[in-house]
Parts: sequence; structure tokens; C-alpha cells
Amino acid sequence: MAKAKTQPNRREAFGSRNVFILAAIGSAVGLGNIWRFPYVAYEGGGGAFLIPYLCALLTAGIPLLFLDYAIGHRYRGSAPLAFRRMHRAAEPLGWWQVLICVVISVYYAVIVAWSVMYTWFSAQLSWGAGNEQDFFFSDFLQMGDPKEGISTTFVPQVGVPLVIVWIVVIGIMILGVKRGIGAANMILMPLLTVMFLILVVQALFLPGALDGLNAFFEPNWEALRDPGVWASAYGHIFFSLSVAFGIMVTYSSYLKRKTDLTGSGLVVAFANSSFEILAGIGVFAALGFMAQAAGTQVADVATSGIGLAFIAFPTIVSQAAGGSIIGVLFFGALVFAGITSMISILEVIVSALQDKLGWSRISTTLVVTIPLAIISMALFSTTSALVVLDTTDAFVNAFGIMAVAFVTVIVVSWVLFKLPVLQEHLNRRSSFRIGILWRLLVAVVVPIVLGYLLFSEFQKKLTEPYEGYPVWLLGIFGWGMVALLVVGGILLSLLPWSAKSHAKDDPGYDEFLAVEAYEPDPETGSVRVQKGPKR
Ligand code: ALA
Repeated sequence: MAKAKTQPNRREAFGSRNVFILAAIGSAVGLGNIWRFPYVAYEGGGGAFLIPYLCALLTAGIPLLFLDYAIGHRYRGSAPLAFRRMHRAAEPLGWWQVLICVVISVYYAVIVAWSVMYTWFSAQLSWGAGNEQDFFFSDFLQMGDPKEGISTTFVPQVGVPLVIVWIVVIGIMILGVKRGIGAANMILMPLLTVMFLILVVQALFLPGALDGLNAFFEPNWEALRDPGVWASAYGHIFFSLSVAFGIMVTYSSYLKRKTDLTGSGLVVAFANSSFEILAGIGVFAALGFMAQAAGTQVADVATSGIGLAFIAFPTIVSQAAGGSIIGVLFFGALVFAGITSMISILEVIVSALQDKLGWSRISTTLVVTIPLAIISMALFSTTSALVVLDTTDAFVNAFGIMAVAFVTVIVVSWVLFKLPVLQEHLNRRSSFRIGILWRLLVAVVVPIVLGYLLFSEFQKKLTEPYEGYPVWLLGIFGWGMVALLVVGGILLSLLPWSAKSHAKDDPGYDEFLAVEAYEPDPETGSVRVQKGPKR
């Protein structure tokens, strides 16, 4: 293997399995858990929502988490490389996932930047009394009328923290997988957990907390008849667990050969759901307090996702004893959770380009992140940011993540017939063995459920303009953006792999195959060991 010496980079790796688990939890626990889940759960029938939520977790979330782990670890690559190694023609799937991360990263950073400012505002009570909604929309975001088009008016109180967020995440990314991503998660995740536990306990002692918990947990069984509730449970679980958009494929490619994959997956899924339910308890205890203070029902104070965090929480901060501490803990937790997820989203892009071009970590990180930071600033630190963000988020979730998950399971299961290989790979090294049930879920249940959900979302968004936004805006940032993800994915896969790329010369993968090489016999399903390395 003479060429090994000229190899610019061997694949990076996490320091240990525990660091990987922490990083995977850090990726999963994000804005989705803290401000999205509580509201989605409440809208979806409160306590009764836990049924579709658990179904989504068990039938789609965990099986696809295992699938991502198996693909990333078995083919040892970023999403495009892993899919290419599975089959040349599958490479566009990987780039599609990379482009989804491009889109998410540019708006995700903005919500983290808002949270940075709100951590500061909480300490100062900057919004004044009874003015939280106007403060958020008018004073802070300086939101304009969407009908007036895309604005270029800069909003400094968003733009400045946004630059800081980008500098911090770029700094972490430059340091690499072990010293950057691994170390950041080792520091931020314990901090986040402690902050969050203090926040939840503090919220539980607020007067009226019990009313909030009743509103959150009281089951509304009627809601279970609504297919939309099931759709939101399934839609939520992908975003929340960070599955199907390249993150877990990339992270598991940084794992050592002998690693308990399914055992790690179960720990990650359990931790993510615990965080989510804890977030629901904390947020609704606080809303119970707010309703009692205002003399209204919890239903009247539980507003939509973005509003819940940036309008309801400031109200609590103003009214509760020790409110500033609650605010700093809540928004601080959003910042930490956001940063650990944001770096995982960016890693999908950096890792893909590093694999394709064979560039160094630092050059690739700068080439990827600086343009993204500029786009993020240009689109989201202006007075038209909120509508663009809302549209992009809704469309990339439905027709980006859910669509790529649908196509991926069909291609892997029914076109390339790779599930037996991947199952075998998972079982070889894992404490929790998976069997026919996993294959059934991935190959049959997930495609049926996702197919139905995609169809109904498609119908809904075509018949009524999302949130009543102007059609041109939905055309560009909604439909246009999702079409670009698919076309861009195909075009990127057509670009040639550089001579230095990991696809061409990767001693680590060769060694891996030399030791582990196998393909199941298509007739019998039994494993036959191959003689030498195989690409
Ligand atoms: N999984 C991340 C979140 O929940 C992306 O925000």
C-alpha cells in the first residue's frame, strides 16, 4: 500500500465511543427539542400525543437511526462517499442530504443568534413590562410586511450576534472531529444538562405550574383521529433525532471498527426523548405560571413555536420571582443545544467536500462556512428574515428531510437490496441484535407512512399557500429551494472526484475491508468472506 504515504488525511475519528455518543446526543438535542417539541406535543393532543410520538420513534426514528449508523460505519464516509461506495448511482442521495444541511445551517444559526441576544436581554429585562410580543417582532426583528418583498435593511441586533455564532462554530469546526466537535460536546453537553435540570426544577416550583402540566399531559384522544397529528409526530422525529439528513452517517464514519452501534443508538434515542419530554415539562410548568398570572387558560398563552420561546418566556422572565435566572438558563440552554446541533449539520457539508476534494480540514471548513455565514447574514439579519425563515424551515422539513428519507429507504431496500448487508454489519458488533422486524420497518412501514405523509403535505401546501405568504415567496424559498436540492444533488454527484479524494485512495477503508470484507450470498443470505480489499 505505497500510496498510503501520500494520503493527505486519514479519516478523522472520535476519541472514544462515549465521545461519539455525547456528540450524537449533542446533535439530536437541539432547537427542535426545546422550543419545537413542547408546542407540537401540545397541539397534537397533549398527553395523547405521546402515542403517535412513541410510534414514530419506534417504527421510524430508531430504525432509521440504525440505518444511518450502518451506512456511515459500513462504508466509512461522508454521506456522498458512503452512498457512492454502496453503489455509484446512489451518490446523489448523499449530496441531496448535504444540500439539506446547507439550507438548515443558514437559518439554524439565526435562531441560535436570537437566543444569544435573549440570554442577554433576560439579564436586563430589556423588553419592559407587558410588551414582549411587540418587542420580539417590532423592536428586535424589526419585521416588515412580507408583501413588500425581500428587504436589504440590516438589523444590527440580529446581525452582530449572528457573526459571533458563526465565528464560534467555525472555530470549533476548524479544530476537527476530536479536538473540535468531540471537545465542544464534552464541555457543552454536561453544562446543558445541568442548566436544563435547574430550569425544570425551578419552573416546577412556580405558582400555577401544575395547571401547565395538566394542560400538557391531559390526553385529548380526539386528536389521534387527525392524520395531521401523526404527520407532525413523524415529521418531528426525523429533525429531532437528526436522522436522514447525513448527520448520523457522517458521525458514525468517525467511529472505530469495533463499536457497539445499536447499543449507542438506543442510548442516543433515549437521551433525546428524555430531553424532549423534560423540555415539555419545563416549558408547560412555566406556561401554567404565566396563565395563572394573566388570569387566563394555558391554551391562550401557548403560542406557536417561535412565539413560544421568544414571546412567552420573556413574559415569564418579567413576571416570576428570579425570572432573569429562568431566562438566562432557558436561552443559554437554547444557545448550547443549538451550537452542538449546528456543528453536526455543518460537519455533513465539510466532511463531504473533504472526501470529494481531498482538501485539508482548515481549507475545507473555511471554504464551506464563510459563504454560508455570508448567505445567513444576507437573508436573515434583515427585516424580512422571519417569513423567509419560516417558509424555508417548513419546506425543507417536509419536502427535504422527509422526501430524502423516503427515497433513501426505497433505494436501499428495494433497488440495491442492501438491508441484509447492513443488518449483518450492525449485528456483528452490537449488543442489541436486530432482525427481520428492523428490515420490515425500514423496507415497508417507513416507506408507506412517509409516502402517505408526503402526499398529504404536498396536497395541503399546493391547495393553500403556506401561512398565506405571497406566492412568489413560497415559489423561491419553498418550492424553488426544494427543487434545487434535488437538481443540485444530481449535479454535484456528476462532478469528478479529485485524484486526492478519499473515494480513490483510502487506506483506512481498504484495511477495514481487508479485515471485515463480506457480502451476503444473494441466494442464501449467508456471509462469505472475501479474499482481498474490495471497493
Ligand atoms: N436534531 C436537531 C434539533 O433537534 C437538529 O434541533
